[in-house]
Amino acid sequence: MLVRCLYASRARQTLVPAVTDAILEQSRRNNAARGITGLLCFADDIFVQVLEGGRDPVCDLLGVIMRDDRHQGLRLLAYEEIGQRRFGHWNMGQVNLARVNTALLLKYSARPALDPFANPAAATMALLHDLVDTAQIVTRGG
Ligand SMILES: Cc1cc2nc3c(=O)[nH]c(=O)nc-3n(C[C@H](O)[C@H](O)[C@H](O)COP(=O)(O)O)c2cc1C
Repeated sequence: MLVRCLYASRARQTLVPAVTDAILEQSRRNNAARGITGLLCFADDIFVQVLEGGRDPVCDLLGVIMRDDRHQGLRLLAYEEIGQRRFGHWNMGQVNLARVNTALLLKYSARPALDPFANPAAATMALLHDLVDTAQIVTRGG
């Protein structure tokens, strides 16, 4: 039984590389052992993360992430059972939306910015799929 979930949240502190690198390091270490894959996007103070994997590991991890005080105001945008993974290449890929082409951000949004709190979940997920299709996912560093 595979599931995928998508959430958005706001960082409690300014998102500097030391903060995102620490989260990504933890994610890659833990997720590989738990069969979890996905993407973590950040832009200004916003996080958007998609998690895929078995229902138990994904739900357990979501419970841990919800209690993490590095962010707040977490909103679950989508949760679904899936037949196959869409983000299976990454134990936790990263995308800094500040480096993404403005046209891609405008494709699904009124403004050239990530706004998962206002946009439909389907639009945010479509943007993530486009990032995969246009090979804008970073595996580590950068
Ligand atoms: C936005 C955000 C995304 C996170 N994503 C993951 C993740 O995918 N996997 C993970 O294990 N921890 C993730 N974490 C960290 C967890 O909340 C928690 O700190 C970590 O799993 C604890 O792992 P440790 O006990 O190995 O240090 C994330 C935290 C934040 C703030």
